[in-house]
Amino acid sequence: MFFARFTTLTIILVATLAENGVAQSVETSQSRLTLEDLVASMSIEEKAGQMTQTTVDVILKDESPTEIDPEKLRVAIVDRRVGSILNVKWMAYTVDHWHSLITAIQDAATKETPNKIPVLYGIDSIHGANYVKGSTLFPHNVGVGASRDVALAKAAAKINAAETAAMGVAWNFDPMLGLARQPLWSRFEESYGEDEHLATTLGRAVIETYEAHGRDGKSSPVASCMKHFIGYSMPLTGKDRTTALIPERFLREYLLPPFAAAVKAGASTVMINSGDVNGIPAHTNSHYLKTILRDELGFEGVAVTDWEDVIRLHTRHKVAATPREAVKIAVMAGIDMSMVPFDFSFTDHLIDLVKSGEIPESRLDESVLRILQLKQKLNLFDHPYPNAELKADLGRPEYQQVALDAALHSLTLLKNKDNVLPLPKTAKILLAGPAADNLPAMHGSWSYSWQGRDTGQYPETTLTLAKAMEQAFGEEQVTCIANPDFDHTDNADAEALTKAAEGHDYIVLALGENAYAETPGGIDDLMLEYDQLKLIVAAKETGKKVVVVMMSGRPRVIGWAEDQTDAFLMAYRPASKGGEAICQVLNGEFNPCGKLPFTWPRGTGDVVMYDHGHTSKISEPFPPGPVTTDAFNPQWPFGAGLSYSQFSYSNLKADRETFSGDDQVTINIDITNSDEMAGWHVVELYSRDLFASVVPCQRRLRMFKKIHLNAGETKPVEFKIDAADLSFIDRNMKRITEPGGFLIMIGDKQLEIEFQ
Ligand code: BGC
Repeated sequence: MFFARFTTLTIILVATLAENGVAQSVETSQSRLTLEDLVASMSIEEKAGQMTQTTVDVILKDESPTEIDPEKLRVAIVDRRVGSILNVKWMAYTVDHWHSLITAIQDAATKETPNKIPVLYGIDSIHGANYVKGSTLFPHNVGVGASRDVALAKAAAKINAAETAAMGVAWNFDPMLGLARQPLWSRFEESYGEDEHLATTLGRAVIETYEAHGRDGKSSPVASCMKHFIGYSMPLTGKDRTTALIPERFLREYLLPPFAAAVKAGASTVMINSGDVNGIPAHTNSHYLKTILRDELGFEGVAVTDWEDVIRLHTRHKVAATPREAVKIAVMAGIDMSMVPFDFSFTDHLIDLVKSGEIPESRLDESVLRILQLKQKLNLFDHPYPNAELKADLGRPEYQQVALDAALHSLTLLKNKDNVLPLPKTAKILLAGPAADNLPAMHGSWSYSWQGRDTGQYPETTLTLAKAMEQAFGEEQVTCIANPDFDHTDNADAEALTKAAEGHDYIVLALGENAYAETPGGIDDLMLEYDQLKLIVAAKETGKKVVVVMMSGRPRVIGWAEDQTDAFLMAYRPASKGGEAICQVLNGEFNPCGKLPFTWPRGTGDVVMYDHGHTSKISEPFPPGPVTTDAFNPQWPFGAGLSYSQFSYSNLKADRETFSGDDQVTINIDITNSDEMAGWHVVELYSRDLFASVVPCQRRLRMFKKIHLNAGETKPVEFKIDAADLSFIDRNMKRITEPGGFLIMIGDKQLEIEFQ
């Protein structure tokens, strides 16, 4: 939709004359203009430039990660009028460098171009402001999903926005809203897990926080970016950016709600899925980009492509015979800005396509207006330069506590045989395994470098698990035999482990995955590497108690090896304070409360989600008797997660048995902590539609609340549900609630209500 909105923007009125394809500018008078006037005054070249986003390499000296090449800067900003720049080259920059980089860019844009339109810098601050030195990193989204903690998700997002604003950057390509339903996928850790309600709730909270940032005038605003629209997270083969097969009903039932909520929450921008869905590259899919995103969801912000994805319509997807045709297809499908990112080919082709009449100039006007509205919303016309005072918002000491809390609340205890945990204060511990003394495994992707593996870039103050355990338990009680290099052969040395075990009571094995981001993190086998499974067996054979701490971005299958462990703690990618957080759970200072945000497969082919249909259970009258096969047999189901306390449920009640129309049903339940240790507990309400016109799920998470219970305390919890909470997408792609019975399940209690 092209909508006229008056602005209070005061700019220098410029008449831009296009002669022989060369834009000339003449400053005429000072006046109050609308953004529409500004668009109308722009040449085709300027408009195409605004729709172009390049990576920072384009303005840097070839051999340098930081040094601006003045000639390249002039070409990009003054000649080509590039509207947006993104990324870092190789490494996180200091905040001072960020300021001088963006100042140089804005100098060129606002002093040397005719319309003085500021450049919008975009960055991936994915789990904290991971591209500025000295920032605080929080658990990746999969850990946030495990915490079920909306307040902590917001607190971390607030710091992320503050540190991103401190850099002088106004656009954050975060959060990812895709559902993690393909565990092979290398970006699993960036998502909130497999469940729609979880992703909707947490994504909405994070987007609201980003979009509210700086609105009080105390900082600069930061735009959020919901990504990747849509279907990116479910590649059929698990390989990054490859084909997903997603029926429209499924898409609307599961994948769309987080985006719909994000739009309502005020998401300023969206990034498009690099892959194809049902053979149609998302960047060419006007049904998704226009009909669903704009017309149905009402999104009015900027749609940016993902990295090189217009070019790839020609080189990779092969749906465009030439790079020029690729530009035409993507722009006509509805993208506003192309993350080109290394050249000006998009700009050139776009200019040519407009001049030849193949793309109407009005199509550019629509996108350019959205881009300018975004720049205005971010105050860039008035304040294009980084605010030096905001540097103080980087690395504030109080951020550490939020990072620690976020990590603590994410940790998910999946097994605790005979209450082996918490470990006694006097425990003699042997610590081994590739993740034990390794920062990349603790942080995962987007951690001071894209792949997160550059250990030299981590703050010196960040503790590995080994260092944190020495501090928590005392150096004399902890022996670490791990090599800091994840793939070092020492880390797979089962014999060395056996020898070192003597004199220790417990073996803590820190296992998992090295850091990886995007396509390089692809795997063909979900099974945890054989070397690591061997360590579990060797540890068990020593007769000591075996505690596995897993640092990985996705559920790696351990199958039979689970028997060989006494305790299993999933840490995901807990980041900056991960080491300390894990220790606080191991020694009982903190009572674990994380709940799995995904289903952990028992075998490599066992990928059945928790919200599967009843059809996963099949009974056949085979001789010698009936056989029941339940395809749902995970290692640990979605929602699994132990505590050091026992929580019990009682008095589940509904205030009515039947409801209709807009009625609300009030559900009450009491939760008791019957132990001596206080703790947090997540109360989850699931529903089951007993009979429906499309196969209903066994259970579906509808609501959750997180409560704190002291030792021996009982607390009431109340939920209010209505027909919309129990709705689904029917055969005609419409959201409906059908009359009939619904089972409401909380903990081990359940009751039935009927919608009439
Ligand atoms: C990723 C995006 C990211 C972009 C910019 C792409 O490769 O898919 O998620 O925002 O790069 O760095």
